[in-house]
Amino acid sequence: MRKITVKQVSEATNAELTGENKAEVSDVTHDSRQAGTGALFVAVRGLTMDGHRFVNDVMRRGAVGVISELDAPEHFQGAWLKVADARTALAQAAAVINANPSHDLKLVGITGTNGKTTTTYLTFALAEANGETGAMLTTVEYRIGDKSEPAVRTTPEASDTNRFLRRAVEADCQMAVMETSSQAIDLHRCDALRFEVAVFTNLTRDHLDYHLTMENYYDAKKKLFDGRLGETPKSSVINVDDDWGAKLAADLKLNNQKVITFAQNNPADLTAENVEVSLIRGTSFDLKTKHGVRKITSPLVGKPHVYNMLSATAVALELGYDLDKISQGLKICVGAPGRFERVAHDGEFAVVVDYAHSDDALLNTLKTARELTSGRIITVFGCGGDRDKTKRQPMGEVAGENSDLVIVTSDNPRTENPLQIISEIEIGLKKTDCEYLVISDRRDAIHQAIRRAKANDVVLIAGKGHETYQIIGSDKFHFDDREIAREALENLME
Ligand SMILES: Nc1ncnc2c1ncn2[C@@H]1O[C@H](COP(=O)(O)OP(=O)(O)O)[C@@H](O)[C@H]1O
Ligand SMILES: [Mg+2]
Repeated sequence: MRKITVKQVSEATNAELTGENKAEVSDVTHDSRQAGTGALFVAVRGLTMDGHRFVNDVMRRGAVGVISELDAPEHFQGAWLKVADARTALAQAAAVINANPSHDLKLVGITGTNGKTTTTYLTFALAEANGETGAMLTTVEYRIGDKSEPAVRTTPEASDTNRFLRRAVEADCQMAVMETSSQAIDLHRCDALRFEVAVFTNLTRDHLDYHLTMENYYDAKKKLFDGRLGETPKSSVINVDDDWGAKLAADLKLNNQKVITFAQNNPADLTAENVEVSLIRGTSFDLKTKHGVRKITSPLVGKPHVYNMLSATAVALELGYDLDKISQGLKICVGAPGRFERVAHDGEFAVVVDYAHSDDALLNTLKTARELTSGRIITVFGCGGDRDKTKRQPMGEVAGENSDLVIVTSDNPRTENPLQIISEIEIGLKKTDCEYLVISDRRDAIHQAIRRAKANDVVLIAGKGHETYQIIGSDKFHFDDREIAREALENLME
C-alpha cells in the first residue's frame, strides 16, 4: 500500500495542522479501541460520548495524531488536525489513506426505504452473470467475490468501507455495490466515495425516529445524488412511480445530471409490462429498455421485486453489461435471503419469511401475498423494542386490514417488555375487525400459524427475514424464522 503522511491527510481533509507532519499514517478510525500504532484517531463528539475522552489513551498506544473540530490542547505531543467537521474528515482521510479504492472499481450506491438489500444482491448477481467479480456491502453480509463475512451494520463507517473496497480492488473486483442507508449518508459515512451509479428505490415512512420529517429524510437521501458528498454519481437510477423519486429525477435533470428512470405505472426509461406473479412459478414480465425488449422470468415472487429487477437492470446497463446476460442472470438469481423468501415444503399452502418491519413494507408484502392466493393470509409478526415506537400501531392496523388471521408476537423486544410492545400493536389491530391472537413466544406463534394453515393459505412470517437471532433483554439467542417454520412443517407430517 502507498505510504501516506500526516501532511497529506491534512491536505485531503482541509485541516489546520499543528505538530508532527512527516509521520506515516497506517489507518484512520473514530473507534478508540481500533486506534493502534500509526493510526489517526478521529475524536467525534457523539450524542452520548465525546471521543476527546480517549485522546490520551490512543496516543499512549501509539497513534500518530488526532483529527478534531477543537483546537489542539496545550503541550499535545503528536499531530493535531483541526477540521470543520470530524465525520466528513474521517471519510476523506479514509479515502486517501486507502488510496481512493472507489476510483479503482465501479461503485454502485443504493438508497431508499425498501428494496436496498434485494437490489444489491441482484446487481451483484448481474455482475457475475456478465463475467465480472463483484463485492457487496449489505444488511445481510459483506462479500468479495465468493467470500462472505457477516455484516456488522448495513452501511459501515467510512474507514471500514474504504478498507473493504481496497481489499475488493486487490481481489480484482471490477465492481462493488453497497446499500447506503439515509442515516449513514447523514453521518458522512459515504462522503468522498466516487459512485458510478446511485439508485433511489422509494421513500416511505420509516426511520422517522431519526429523521423526524419526510423532508429531512428525503434530503438525506438526496445527498447521495446531488454532489453534497463530494462528487455527483455518473448516473442516477430512479423509481418514478414514487412521488419523492419523481421529484428527485426532476431536480437532478434541472441540474443537468444523467438520470435513468424506471417504473411499472408511469412512462420511464425502463418499464415492466404484463407482469405475472405466481407463488409456485415465480415472476415473469416484459422488460422494455432503450437497449431492447426481453421477456424476463425470475424465481423472485412479487411486484416489489419487479421494481428491484428493473433498478438492478438499469444499473447493469449503465455498467455496460449485456442485456441477454442480464436476463440470464435474473433468471437464476434468488435475491436476498429473507426477502419474501418461500420456505419449501410439500403442503398445499405457502410459508413466506419476510424482513418487512415497517408498516409500509408490511403493507407491500401483504398486498403481494394477497395477489398470489385465493386462500387466507395468516400473518405472524411483532415489533422491535428500543426502536421507532410510532410504527407499532400502524403496523397493527396494516396487518389487521390485510390479513385473515394475525398472530401478534415478539420481534427483538430488547430491553422493553414484550407485552407492552404487543399492546401498542393491538391498538392498531383493534381498529380493524380482523381475528387475532397474542402469542408472545415467537416459536409458539410460528407453530400455531402453520398448524392453522389450510390449502391455498399463505402464512407470512414478517419482521426478521434473514436474521438468525432474537434479542431479549440484552441477550442474543439463536433464532431463525425459516428453521422454526421447517420444524413446524415437519411436525405436521408426523
Ligand atoms: N422495491 C420494493 N418496494 C417495496 N417493498 C420492497 C421492495 N423490495 C423489497 N421490499 C420489501 O421491503 C422489505 C425490505 O426489503 P430489502 O430488500 O431488505 O430492503 P432494505 O434493504 O431497503 O430494507 C421486505 O419486506 C421486502 O419484501
Ligand atoms: Mg437492507
